[in-house]
Amino acid sequence: MKNLLIISNWKLNGNKYLINHFINKISHIVKSCNFSIIIAPPLLYLDYMQQVIKLYKCDNYISLSAQNIDIHNYGSFTGEISAKMLKDIGIKYAIIGHADRKIFHKENDNIILKKFTILKSENIFPILCIGETKKEYQSNQTIVICIKQINNIIKNLGILALQDTIIAYEPIWAIGNKIIVNPTYIQKIHNAIRNYLMQINYKIGKYINIQYGGSVNFTNILNLLKQPDINGVLIGKASLDTENFIKILNTINNNFIPSEVNI
Ligand code: PGA
Repeated sequence: MKNLLIISNWKLNGNKYLINHFINKISHIVKSCNFSIIIAPPLLYLDYMQQVIKLYKCDNYISLSAQNIDIHNYGSFTGEISAKMLKDIGIKYAIIGHADRKIFHKENDNIILKKFTILKSENIFPILCIGETKKEYQSNQTIVICIKQINNIIKNLGILALQDTIIAYEPIWAIGNKIIVNPTYIQKIHNAIRNYLMQINYKIGKYINIQYGGSVNFTNILNLLKQPDINGVLIGKASLDTENFIKILNTINNNFIPSEVNI
């Protein structure tokens, strides 16, 4: 994986028309990007998007991620999708612990741990979302909460489980609502997470990719990427609009040298 990573999370949006339009429009630009791009369309469209990406010869430049998986690999779990199925169709990443899942599907640490474990058993990279509520933020609990959420994995699976894992720090109160959090503040949180991990295992902490997510767009992205411990961004709304996403890619391409990022 290259140093800098941009993840586009489509959530419950998109259709075949958008997929064709989006990949067609970005196909030339991605070939000149010196950073990695992951797109997470709805599960139903993963295979279709993969075919379109191949059609435009972008498969070396764009990877795909699931937005969710089940805690089981097989069985009587109507409506679910498993890590094994993702692997079967060649998907390398899966987002787990996203705030939307915690809020609307009541996912807790125990479920996130099971999902993490099953992804690892299939060699799929977890994109582990962590983050605090507004109340926790206001009571200065951010770092404690983030570390508690990461410790849920470390305590049960060991620090080495974080190898080939991407962490996405997403303050729940800053997602999808145009709240622009101060990049210096975000850097402080990312740095605290990295330092904590480095104390347990220097290499894991130093090299783990820590993404930021929460109302990122082409106007605020550069100031975020300039922070040494922000290794990329997980973008929802602003990445769904093709023109906006192109602006994001061009902004990075024109202004940013990935080697500035400390990973
Ligand atoms: P947003 O979403 O960019 O629309 O805030 C980010 C996310 O939910 O991952």
